[in-house]
Amino acid sequence: MTLIDWKPEFFLGIPKMDADHRYMVGLINGLNEQLQAAGNKTFIIGILEELYSSAAKHFAHEEAIMRECGYDKYAEHEADHRRLLDRLTTWIADYQTERLDEGMAKWLANWFCNHFQNHDTRLCGPVSEPIESKVTTDVV
Ligand SMILES: [Fe+2]
Ligand SMILES: [Fe+2]
Repeated sequence: MTLIDWKPEFFLGIPKMDADHRYMVGLINGLNEQLQAAGNKTFIIGILEELYSSAAKHFAHEEAIMRECGYDKYAEHEADHRRLLDRLTTWIADYQTERLDEGMAKWLANWFCNHFQNHDTRLCGPVSEPIESKVTTDVV
């Protein structure tokens, strides 16, 4: 069973953001499948590491947009990004010492849906028109 079904509501209308979000959802679903199937540990750590590196790039892009726009909720949004990266760092370290957290995929799915709804839609709503023209540097 797919943990997160991709829905039209997940599209923000900004191709790079949408592609990144879709990729992250795919990784979370893949992680869930591997955990359900008691998949290979090295493969599971590989998914966690790929999620970390793709999320870190994506967050850097969003945070650059927020700084460019003087976004009023920057601190809260950035803190929620950090929360995910810190959690992934802990899981990767723990997984290497056999302390498995079977709830990882569900936590990630909840994080994604909550973050998307409470932070990313707010960021891309009011500034969606000028967003791409305001970003002058390619940070990813
Ligand atoms: Fe995002
Ligand atoms: Fe975000």
